[in-house]
Amino acid sequence: MSAEITGACPRQTNDSACPAQDSPQDSPGSLEGMSVVTLDDMSTTNILDILDRAAYIDHHRREVSHTCDGRVLATLFYEPSTRTRLSFETAMLRLGGKVIGFAGAQLASVTKGESISDTLKTVSNYADVVAIRHPKEGAALVAAQASRVPVINAGDGGHMHPTQTLADLATLRSRFGRITHLTVGLCGDLTFGRTVHSLIETLCRFGDVHFVLISPEELTTPQYVLDRIDSTPSCSYTETRDLSEVIGDLDVLYMTRVQKERFFNEDDYLRLRDTYILDESKLSLSKPDMAVLHPLPRVNEIAVEVDDDPRAAYFEQVRNGMLVRMALESMVVGDELEGYEPTRSGPPSGPACAQSGKAAI
Ligand code: NCD
Repeated sequence: MSAEITGACPRQTNDSACPAQDSPQDSPGSLEGMSVVTLDDMSTTNILDILDRAAYIDHHRREVSHTCDGRVLATLFYEPSTRTRLSFETAMLRLGGKVIGFAGAQLASVTKGESISDTLKTVSNYADVVAIRHPKEGAALVAAQASRVPVINAGDGGHMHPTQTLADLATLRSRFGRITHLTVGLCGDLTFGRTVHSLIETLCRFGDVHFVLISPEELTTPQYVLDRIDSTPSCSYTETRDLSEVIGDLDVLYMTRVQKERFFNEDDYLRLRDTYILDESKLSLSKPDMAVLHPLPRVNEIAVEVDDDPRAAYFEQVRNGMLVRMALESMVVGDELEGYEPTRSGPPSGPACAQSGKAAI
């Protein structure tokens, strides 16, 4: 896995490499034609604009239902998925567009030995936007470089999952009215959980978050993610093995599944998979307004009894996931939402602004 697998990538022609970009922090700009490999590919103003649009869409379903008439989304899913693929697809269908694609590499020409680049050079002639999920870190970047149309990373190995982070941020904002000034606990598989890496990276850009990293010794947070926190003056972290000891301090508890598919050894997975189980008795130690998030699917990490607790926010995340994907898909293809008036302009609010309390979230 590489921390270097980042970088903006605008719409590509088939034979050009992804050129060096100005820092997205310096150029709020439009997302039209842009690929999204990580959220570092866009400014913080863009991120907030996506959240604003998602909230608008939620209350203007009919008005936005023809936004992407005539557009085609291709979903290329080389790894299993329920929510993410259906959410990307539903998003385009609800905007008036159509969907093509495959779910499961065994159904695609990859089984005949086709490269990701060749698949993208082909599919990007058919579609206006592509969502790709792949087990290898960096696959989405390779896809973006080969594609004529914007590519959205729907998860590349243990690296990043930017649209899940947008869903997480939308959920935090609807619960707390902010995405800063929070103590955020992340619990479970912090080594391989790409949603955790994406979320930390992005929260650091807004600043003012204390992370409590709760994991077994074998599944701690990768150094490149810790470095990101360390290089953000307004953010900090502590690491612990004990959920009960820290749960009372948290505003947010982000539970994750132990990523079975990324283990080399089945015995290790079996030993670690049930390390943390959030049940009502543990939850009773938390603040009454703590929010429990989980990107889903859950295995055993959250007892079903927790679903009815007002602190459970994971099915809200699912709903927000579709809304943020509607916003993002329409933006990268360059279609405006009917009736939506953007309220954000001017320089984006990077971590420096967040530190000085200027980030308008
Ligand atoms: C996550 C993923 O695929 O990384 N799921 C999702 O997209 N909502 C989390 C997981 O699989 O554990």
